[in-house]
Amino acid sequence: MIRIENLRKEYPGAVPLSDVSVTINDGDVISIIGPSGTGKSTLIRCINLLEKPTSGKVFLDDMEITAPGCNLTEVHRKMGMVFQSFNLFGHMSVVENIMAPTMDLLGMSAQEAYDNAMKLLGTVGLSDKALSWPDELSGGQKQRVAIARTLAMNPDVILLDEPTSALDPTMVGEVQSVIRDLASSGKTMMIVTHEMSFARAISNRIFYLDEGGIYEEGTPEEIFENPKREKTRRFVKRLKVLEIDIESRTYDFLGTQSLIEDYCVKNQVPYSLAKQIHLAFEEAVHQCIVCTMEKPRVHLTIEYSQENESAAFALEYGGNKMDIFEDGDEISVSILNKIVHDQKYSWDENREMGNSLEFHI
Ligand SMILES: Nc1ncnc2c1ncn2[C@@H]1O[C@H](COP(=O)(O)OP(=O)(O)OP(=O)(O)O)[C@@H](O)[C@H]1O
Ligand SMILES: [Mg+2]
Repeated sequence: MIRIENLRKEYPGAVPLSDVSVTINDGDVISIIGPSGTGKSTLIRCINLLEKPTSGKVFLDDMEITAPGCNLTEVHRKMGMVFQSFNLFGHMSVVENIMAPTMDLLGMSAQEAYDNAMKLLGTVGLSDKALSWPDELSGGQKQRVAIARTLAMNPDVILLDEPTSALDPTMVGEVQSVIRDLASSGKTMMIVTHEMSFARAISNRIFYLDEGGIYEEGTPEEIFENPKREKTRRFVKRLKVLEIDIESRTYDFLGTQSLIEDYCVKNQVPYSLAKQIHLAFEEAVHQCIVCTMEKPRVHLTIEYSQENESAAFALEYGGNKMDIFEDGDEISVSILNKIVHDQKYSWDENREMGNSLEFHI
């Protein structure tokens, strides 16, 4: 069991983890997901003390490993790490790479270390590469050797940081299948990954990292099917969001159009949908501005779903109660009606921007 209490990690200019407390149970297979730079690597590097936490405590079983004087070699033996970039020794054969740490750190005899290494090479499907040099292996094979080397130490916990992201796509599957077997063998594992379907298939828990910590955690079903929080939902549904605020009648119309253009290009929005997004923006926002003529206030959120190739508009605007589909300009409404569906309007007189309108394209 690993218990993390109020873990904080600061770097000059970045605080990737502000306050993380969580318990990892024996046999848990946890996938850590989240946008780039949210502290996924930092979290697992702090757990096995490759990075020194700024504050907070980490317990492995009941031993506080962040306590001064704790035996780091022992910690690294109990928590094995698999890196994105294999880190094999180039001057040792494959089997020697696996044998070396078990002889040095576990005190195995050469024969024991060899037998153990050969057994593990069998597990990762590389018995025939025992005498090869790392340079003679493909990326996928190197990573499988690195996994065997980690397993050789028989760690209680295995931490993997994007183990397949440096691989040619044709080799991802072979490494994933080794990791999948490991996950179903009952080993406690934490794996940072960008491969959502893989995370879903192997884990019993998912941590979504954002805003300096575990922003949301749950079972794969909870996180991928019913995320509770906004950023999780956007991330797992691969929603690309653009937010636009308009606060004046003479706002920069062309500038805003080119903002939408850039957003569509960057997120590979199909051409026909991009055209409809532009049109919906022009017609809908124009109506919102008209109805708040005195003091225009419009907040527009466009969410493009890469998964479904569809877009959702959410408009909040000030002024009096006005559903543009009911009370708006006839021509604009007829144009909008041709391209949008599932429109939903609501009014809340207590809010400054009391009108809310959502629709899909
Ligand atoms: N050694 C370091 N010195 C300074 N800042 C660092 C260092 N390592 C990480 N950071 C910063 O901490 C933040 C989190 O980095 P981290 O590598 O944990 O992100 P990540 O979630 O693993 O991202 P990715 O998905 O791109 O691998 C980033 O803003 C990064 O720039
Ligand atoms: Mg990382």
